[in-house]
Amino acid sequence: MKCLGLMSGTSVDGVDCAIVDITRTQSRPNITLLTSHTIAYPPGLRARLLLAPTQGTVAELCHLNAAVGEVFANAALKTIKRAGLKPENVRLVGSHGQTVYHQPTPIREPQVGLIRSTLQIGDPTIIAERTGITTVADFRTRDMALGGEGAPLAPYAHHLVFHMKRRSRLVVNLGGIGNVTYLPGEGGLEDIQAFDTGPCNMLLDGLMLKGSAGKHRMDRNGRLGRSGRSHAAMLKSLWSHSYLAKHPPKSTGREEFGEAYIANVFRQARAKRLSLNDVLATSCEFVASTIVDSCRWLKGGVDEVIVGGGGVKNLALMDALSQAFAPRPVRTMDQVGVDSNAFEALAFAVMAYQTIHGVPTNVPSVTGARHAVVLGTIVPGEKKISIRL
Ligand SMILES: Nc1ncnc2c1ncn2[C@@H]1O[C@H](COP(=O)(O)OP(=O)(O)O)[C@@H](O)[C@H]1O
Ligand SMILES: [Mg+2]
Repeated sequence: MKCLGLMSGTSVDGVDCAIVDITRTQSRPNITLLTSHTIAYPPGLRARLLLAPTQGTVAELCHLNAAVGEVFANAALKTIKRAGLKPENVRLVGSHGQTVYHQPTPIREPQVGLIRSTLQIGDPTIIAERTGITTVADFRTRDMALGGEGAPLAPYAHHLVFHMKRRSRLVVNLGGIGNVTYLPGEGGLEDIQAFDTGPCNMLLDGLMLKGSAGKHRMDRNGRLGRSGRSHAAMLKSLWSHSYLAKHPPKSTGREEFGEAYIANVFRQARAKRLSLNDVLATSCEFVASTIVDSCRWLKGGVDEVIVGGGGVKNLALMDALSQAFAPRPVRTMDQVGVDSNAFEALAFAVMAYQTIHGVPTNVPSVTGARHAVVLGTIVPGEKKISIRL
């Protein structure tokens, strides 16, 4: 069965698309990646998406939900074409959508109860309509309805793709936010630990944008960061954020590490008279140290580190990570045969596949949900469906 995964993370850079072929062998899906690429958001839409969580009106959000749905639908059609396929060859779309708000810490709503919430936009009915393909979306909400964080969700796919017997692996995702998945060699799905470690590219991109007066949205290949020097006092002050000391399960996003946080870091760096190169070098060391530090919560040792996400291309960050984990080997997903840009999109294709087969894909030990559950909302692709009651 060919399934298409669509994902855009907290970096809000673009839609990662992957088509995978899934066959089932002994109740375990066997996954082959057929094609993958990323389609950047139009810059105007990206700017609106970044502003929406703090300044957007309901009208703006309503508009963005449909606009992102169109962008995701177009991305799906382009990917299918690129793969030399037709929509009718693809059985399923799994769309993560674009997170605009994630509130995993419960808030008391008087006369209602404790409420956790998350909002991914990119209307799946638009994707199903434009492609004619059954679309699974809203993967996070069901886990939250069970008291979970709704995140991270990729650990299920990490387990399927990267778990090795007798070798404990730490899978690191360098997205806007950093996260880790621990796959103990002796353990199964129920022994996985995973959580968000803190800011990653979101911080690096934000500092680069400010430091270049809006000219550059990322430190391409980590060129500046690599030529800078880490600053001890700055590093220490970065470590003062309370999220870093929080015990898992935990997840975070732009709510905690967005514009206000970045502006504050930038102000501090200015006050300390750090050059942009030095701020970036310090931030790379900071990110790497938060990831290594997270090992204190793991129930066993790490034999090998496997890294994915856009941050793999930031060589300053990768150097810092290798140094922080030494002597344990740090390898990219690409080095073990998996496209590191495509992994999360692949994960949502696999999760959609499991959803229509009635298989749960949240990992309760990771999210804190009361139990495992089939995730998502299913939108039928067929124009006519016959429901037999
Ligand atoms: N060539 C590159 N050099 C440095 N950083 C890069 C490069 N390509 C991508 N990145 C980083 O990766 C980010 C996107 O990573 P991604 O895994 O898509 O994160 P998310 O899941 O948050 O969208 C970019 O915003 C940028 O910070
Ligand atoms: Mg992205």
